[in-house]
Amino acid sequence: MSPLRRLWEYATEYRSDAKIATIYSFLNKLFDLAPPLLIGAAVDIVVRRENSILADFGVEDTRTQIVVLAVMTFTIWGLESFFQYVSSLKWRNLAQSIQHELRMDAYGHVQGLELSYFEDRATGDLMAVLNDDVNQLERFLDTGADDVIQTGATVVLIGIVFFVLAPSVAWMAFIPIPFILWGSIRYQRTLEPRYAAVREQAAEINSQLSNNLGGIATIKSFIAEKREVARLGDTSQRYREANRSAIKLSSAFSPLIRIVILVGFTATLVFGGFQSLDGSLEVGAYSVMVFLTQRLLWPLTRLGQTFDLYQRAMASTSRVLNVLDTEVSLADGTVALPRKDVDGAFAFENVTFAYSEGPVVLDGLSVEIPARKTTAFVGSTGAGKTTLVKLLLRFYDPVSGRVTLDGRDLRELQVNDLRHAIGVVSQDVFLFHGSVRDNIAYGKPDADFEDIVRAAKIAEADEFINELADGYDTIVGERGQKLSGGQRQRISIARAVLIDPPILVLDEATSSVDNETEAAIQRSFDRLSVDRTTIVIAHRLSTIRYADRIYVLDRGQVAQQGTHDQLADAEGIYSGLWSVQTGEAHDRRPGEVA
Ligand code: CTP
Ligand code: MG
Repeated sequence: MSPLRRLWEYATEYRSDAKIATIYSFLNKLFDLAPPLLIGAAVDIVVRRENSILADFGVEDTRTQIVVLAVMTFTIWGLESFFQYVSSLKWRNLAQSIQHELRMDAYGHVQGLELSYFEDRATGDLMAVLNDDVNQLERFLDTGADDVIQTGATVVLIGIVFFVLAPSVAWMAFIPIPFILWGSIRYQRTLEPRYAAVREQAAEINSQLSNNLGGIATIKSFIAEKREVARLGDTSQRYREANRSAIKLSSAFSPLIRIVILVGFTATLVFGGFQSLDGSLEVGAYSVMVFLTQRLLWPLTRLGQTFDLYQRAMASTSRVLNVLDTEVSLADGTVALPRKDVDGAFAFENVTFAYSEGPVVLDGLSVEIPARKTTAFVGSTGAGKTTLVKLLLRFYDPVSGRVTLDGRDLRELQVNDLRHAIGVVSQDVFLFHGSVRDNIAYGKPDADFEDIVRAAKIAEADEFINELADGYDTIVGERGQKLSGGQRQRISIARAVLIDPPILVLDEATSSVDNETEAAIQRSFDRLSVDRTTIVIAHRLSTIRYADRIYVLDRGQVAQQGTHDQLADAEGIYSGLWSVQTGEAHDRRPGEVA
């Protein structure tokens, strides 16, 4: 389906507006083409006086005829201006409305897509679609659509006048039109992939820019500035080349059209002239023909620009509509789970999971996470601990096996209810640009300030927040970059605490704070985790020492499980880790021979 058709199908609400705008454009053209006829009528009055056309309508007196004509002229030109105004108003507002709608729809849709979609796409690329591509539509709808309709109207209206005036020569003026139409369609087909390539390159630039600006500190510290400039240069060059190839074609269009038009024009001139010399065509009709041929064919030269706008806009529209057509592959469940009914017992039943094409991360994993207890996971880096949390939140579905909450498969539950029940302090903390206070209240925007402070105290964050320049109103910067790693982490703990969830997940929640602060946070958690399902992931085993149950993950499977005391005494991964961390293991010193 052509992008325009797709857009039409999409913009159901705006179809009537588009139709009205089309009518306005048509009327605008109608009144715009009237002046030659009025001039004809004026000449008619002066020459034929009491026998003029107006006299046929019952206006006998020649002076009155002139006045009547003047009033008509004034009205018609006034109407032309009026319809020019309303059509421009209608088209431009339509452009804004469709653009707004499309942007909101596309963003809403993208937000609803599952996490894996975002992992496979560059943020900058998506941004290009949601912003640039959406905005391209305006450029066409603002003026292009109006142009196309007015050109069409010109051909039809002048055609009617021609065939009425001088059917014997009229067809000559129309000779170029089939060629122009055929050429335009061919031209569009060739141009389409070229503009698609341009948009792709534009997105590429966007993603590179956003990536680089995000990683500016890394670029600087590895003195990679020159390399990055060169890399961007390459991308920009490709964009330029893609555009060049489109420009080459698009610039040729107007001159080619002009030549075809010239043929039609000359034919009318010559053959009309011959007929007129032979006396078979009225001199007056001949001059009107030559004059109107100009008005008929000339606007067609502008088609080149219009088609150009159109192609650019459609290349972008396709990209936006493609995003809108991306299907959500994680279907939402139907069972509601109000927060107060959550018990909080999870179970992984023989779960196997891999990220898209990647290797198996969880391999037939079976784990019980009892309600209102603290369950800990340890394991080497990359063992799949964070993956486990993502499955709990249903960011992904297992490849086989199932994950249950209170005995129900997560796939049955309404995903919003599920996530509403879980408070997560994730391993990569993300703060939004805004104040400390807004960041803490992110999961509960209407929270009272006292509650925010209480949550911050539990997270051992209150003290440092008060020392910041504007206290709770301090702006944290993009991604929270104006705070230290440990500060960010504590704000994200406060954020999870504030929503007071029945299930609390702490993925390396205290990995960036010093031991003393960690111990203080730990004491808060000990109070918090009473009667709450708490899932703790930590490399520092002191953090999970008092968990009710500890699972040791290894290569996507449970290698060991038990309490700290049981595991520390048993032979295995855990006791090994424990002795390294408590310093009991026999570390080799530098230079020491084994
Ligand atoms: N992985 C992946 N695609 C992702 C995320 C992770 O292929 N989008 C892979 C990682 O490369 C890793 C495995 O999945 O091999 C498990 O990752 P993760 O669950 O994040 O490991 P953790 O146990 O949380 O490791 P860490 O202790 O380092 O946080
Ligand atoms: Mg992890």
